[in-house]
Amino acid sequence: MATIIDGKQVAADVHAALGPRIAALHAAGVVPGLAVILVGDDPASQAYVTMKERDCERLGMRSFDMRLPADTDQERLNAVIDRFDADPAVHGILVQLPLPGHLDAEAALARISAPKDVDGLTPESLGRLVRGLPAHRACTPYGVMRMLEAYGIDPAGKRAVVVGRSTLVGKPMALLLLEANATVTVCHSKTRDLAAVCREADILVAAIGKAGFITAEFVKPGAVVIDVGIVRTDAGLVGDVDFTAVEPIASAITPVPGGVGPMTRAMLMENAVRAAEAAHADLTR
Ligand code: GUN
Repeated sequence: MATIIDGKQVAADVHAALGPRIAALHAAGVVPGLAVILVGDDPASQAYVTMKERDCERLGMRSFDMRLPADTDQERLNAVIDRFDADPAVHGILVQLPLPGHLDAEAALARISAPKDVDGLTPESLGRLVRGLPAHRACTPYGVMRMLEAYGIDPAGKRAVVVGRSTLVGKPMALLLLEANATVTVCHSKTRDLAAVCREADILVAAIGKAGFITAEFVKPGAVVIDVGIVRTDAGLVGDVDFTAVEPIASAITPVPGGVGPMTRAMLMENAVRAAEAAHADLTR
């Protein structure tokens, strides 16, 4: 029987810890502001953005909601980003991904200045992560690290295997585990004998977006299994991990939903509050 890692509870604890920090900002006349830019009408992205806005409202933060039509051109998107980047009431900017195919996501993200990059995905933020310098950390991998910490799972000296090499999750996840002194392997679609590599993991992180792909044969008995996948099926939301098959083998496992998802949003809020604190400290220095 594995420990079920309760992302909702850890996220609630993160929110609770943000309360006094936000109150202190309010007392200083600062309302933390998060700009969320959504282009197009992808239903999943719309749902994520709405939840982020609700989180802001609940926490006493201001959300600057910018929903743009699917045919928005690059120039317009760039102008929206530049305006938020120059606005002192906006402390963090998030461009919801994926963008429609005609838009250049790299060019868009690169316009966000590092202090406002609360998503941790710009070249500067990711470059700083590689170099071990302070920067906002990408929300999903950062949330995974905080869940491990909350459950007393120290990656130091452990074998960690990350399945998936996306810029959004896999690559920053590997770097954060490395920073925490794990021995890290990153697997992908060309990895030979993937199941055997995964079976070496003390901590297995699945971030591929293939429903139920990680079955019992991928998991060493006693491993910690983190499921980043969110796949919509007729049966509802499912993860990359075949939970029913893997749970009896693992020592700890995240469910889908209620695992990594709530943590991603909680870390976004924490990054935005830290950005507001830093901007205020700069002004009062
Ligand atoms: N789409 C899915 N997850 C994320 C995320 O963490 N950040 C952004 N910007 N887009 C996403």
